[in-house]
Amino acid sequence: MANPLFATKPIKTILAEAEDSGGEHGLKRALGPINLITLGIGAIIGAGIFVLTGTAAAQFAGPAIVISYIIAGIGCVFAGLCYAEFASMMPIAGSAYTYGYATMGELVAWVIGWALVLEYAFGAATVAVGWSGFVSDLVSFFGVTLPFNANPKLAFSLFGHPMAAQVDIFALSALVIITIILVVGVKESANFNSAAVLIKGAIVLVFIAIAAMFAFGHWPHMTANWHPFIPQNTGQFGQFGWSGIMRGAGVVFFAYIGFDAVSTAAQEARNPQKDMPFGILGSLVICTTLYILVSGLLTGVVNFSKLNVAAPVADATRVIGMGWATVLIDLGAIAGLASVMMVMMLGQSRVLYTMSRDGLLPNWVGELHPRFRTPYKTSMIVGVFAASLAAFFPITLLGELVSLGTLLAFTIVSLGVWVMRVRHPEMHRPFRTPLVPVVPICGMLVALALMFSLDRPAWIGFGSWLVLGLFIYFGYSRRHSRVQRSLTGRAGD
Ligand code: ALA
Repeated sequence: MANPLFATKPIKTILAEAEDSGGEHGLKRALGPINLITLGIGAIIGAGIFVLTGTAAAQFAGPAIVISYIIAGIGCVFAGLCYAEFASMMPIAGSAYTYGYATMGELVAWVIGWALVLEYAFGAATVAVGWSGFVSDLVSFFGVTLPFNANPKLAFSLFGHPMAAQVDIFALSALVIITIILVVGVKESANFNSAAVLIKGAIVLVFIAIAAMFAFGHWPHMTANWHPFIPQNTGQFGQFGWSGIMRGAGVVFFAYIGFDAVSTAAQEARNPQKDMPFGILGSLVICTTLYILVSGLLTGVVNFSKLNVAAPVADATRVIGMGWATVLIDLGAIAGLASVMMVMMLGQSRVLYTMSRDGLLPNWVGELHPRFRTPYKTSMIVGVFAASLAAFFPITLLGELVSLGTLLAFTIVSLGVWVMRVRHPEMHRPFRTPLVPVVPICGMLVALALMFSLDRPAWIGFGSWLVLGLFIYFGYSRRHSRVQRSLTGRAGD
């Protein structure tokens, strides 16, 4: 390879490391197929459906938020098919980052790894802010007055845009507790996750059932709210009309994030070749169906213009007149969003662990706890970082940054599947993406379209994050990379 920046990590090394880590010194292989699918649903259903559906319907798409969900869902199926091929071929922690390293070289891998911090650490922070909204909703439902202000406002300006953020004490505390759980171990976390997924799934079904019953009894109310289904564009890109549907899709794309987190747990799966595709695609199909139903019913029960609130799904049950359901949904969302935060934090520490093993981050980042066998230092750093973001930044900005980072990773993974088929057609692929290169190309096109429909402040934040990442790469990682050192070693022979 002429340019060392594009040196790829040999597949043999990746597979040997995956094999090796099943041994005494690696992460525990504790997760079975049901654990994986619950891990997926645990990551997927969260602040996206419970909070951002309302925000996006009110500001961008109106009732056509259903179309936004369909577009984002289709994009995720394409990307999911690509992820599944990689995850079954390379069952190693690190997901998209590792796939990029094997196919397009170190610089691309670094960019993906860095973008994944947006997905996981910023993602956990976004969900924490949503979680805090449900806690506040519950507290206010019971008329409790707190002895302190959980959400003191902090006004500041970002790139010339006036912003008001919260110093969100609930969100901050949630992330601290989750960090402690993660340090103690993945099996224990998976058990907590399974319980939370059951509760979360149950309340989504309860909402669908009561909203559907309401719809049968109040059909004119529903149709009045669904009309016009696609509100007319205001003249500004992204405010209703088709550009609004696309911006809505970019925002609610957040609701799908998480199925790829299953692939980051490949190293902890008992039978990764068979179970990874099952975990990724299974959880995606279940969630897409639920999202279409929830968003359709929600915009029928409550007029879209009234959905820009902290807990829109819980509010809808108030309109229906079922107080018990409001409490149930608040409680379920609180448990459910906690599981999302946990999977995201888990994914983040695993990606950083893998990057440090490759020498792109300092060694201590990947050190495992002698007893718990978890990358505890990384978990703690990620915890503090995510908690600080959640404490100070508004949910919309965080959510759009997460979408941008994840969509970039999806684009590169889709391209990677195609590149890999061309460069290594001989490799054993327990799961093959169908119709290559059509599916990868469609995956890339949908992801890029969603990225370009997002708003300017998010793009500025995203660009700045990438520039910071490049500084670190050229300042530190490039000189310490194991792949680069082996190349230099060979050159010196
Ligand atoms: N998909 C996850 C959520 O909506 C990130 O919270």
